Amino acid sequence: MRQRRSFMNRRRVLQGLSALAMAPLLPHPSRAAVAAPLRMIPSSGELLPPVGLGSWITFNVGNDPVGLAQSVAVMRAFFAGGGRLIDCSPMYGSSQATIGHGLRELGQPDGLFAADKIWTSGRARAAAQLAETRARWGVERFSLLQVHNLEDWQSHLPVLFEMKARGELRYVGVTTSHGRRHAELERIMTSEPLDFVQLTYNLADREAEARLLPLAQERGIAVIANRPYDGGRLIRRLKRDRLPAWAREAGMATWADFALGYLLAHPGLTTVIPATTRVGHVSENVAAGQGGLPDDATRQRMRAYMDAL
Ligand SMILES: NC(=O)c1ccc[n+]([C@@H]2O[C@H](COP(=O)([O-])OP(=O)(O)OC[C@H]3O[C@@H](n4cnc5c(N)ncnc54)[C@H](OP(=O)(O)O)[C@@H]3O)[C@@H](O)[C@H]2O)c1
Repeated sequence: MRQRRSFMNRRRVLQGLSALAMAPLLPHPSRAAVAAPLRMIPSSGELLPPVGLGSWITFNVGNDPVGLAQSVAVMRAFFAGGGRLIDCSPMYGSSQATIGHGLRELGQPDGLFAADKIWTSGRARAAAQLAETRARWGVERFSLLQVHNLEDWQSHLPVLFEMKARGELRYVGVTTSHGRRHAELERIMTSEPLDFVQLTYNLADREAEARLLPLAQERGIAVIANRPYDGGRLIRRLKRDRLPAWAREAGMATWADFALGYLLAHPGLTTVIPATTRVGHVSENVAAGQGGLPDDATRQRMRAYMDAL
């Protein structure tokens, strides 16, 4: 079951989910107290909030006390807004340690969906890397481990599937970004029992719509969209203009609603993971979709708007 499209659909879904004790999603300050619809992980039926948190660059703050305090504030606002999934990688400098620091400061928030990656070649190096990753986060086990950029996936996937079978891990995935290695990703999605794939999908890069998102739907694979703001360029460009009246009439209140809502309205997409250093931005991001997600006609208009920029 996927929840999206029209406002009416969304209302029905919310009614249906009320019995599931939806996470305590707090509203964006400017919005009524409604929760964005949860998304289903096809391989398990578990429900996840639609907006997660990325950490590349933004959480790579080293020991800088100001950067660390800012990151804790972002994580606090993320969890307060009902967020659960945080994504990281050994590739992201000190970001894993920043997340670990934030989790300790926040008293290990309930509901954390910890997503990290293997980013090396060879099983021995991967095992050592994973031990370090675990120590930096300060968690016993991860919700999701992904093979970063498909690096040596032939070695890592069997190990991750074994960990999942032993109950040491809940979900297994692979990632790509910037449109790279899509043909290989497609082959892996067809041949391996993946729970998740992570790929680049944003209004400026919609290539995933052609094959990968439909394939994920067909194979029952959850999809995480990385770089949902095209590294920030997209949202900064959009914010130079006023949100059009037709977008407001369709239920959008912010450019985050516009940029993330477009993605979340795709039936093959599960979660988006924008990264940020700012509390105001993370609050806006986790609130995306609360006014309803765009229908097909509105999405077409959004694409035309984007292409004309
Ligand atoms: N191969 C892979 O596995 C892979 C590759 C790329 C990315 N990823 C994952 O995907 C995550 C997201 O991608 P990304 O970090 O490259 O880029 P992104 O999320 O598309 O963009 C991040 C930028 O957007 C800005 N921003 C965020 N929310 C905003 C808002 N509401 N209004 C205005 N600006 C906003 C941030 O600036 P401020 O700090 O000013 O808010 C930041 O500079 C990464 O952090 C990482 O976790 C994975």
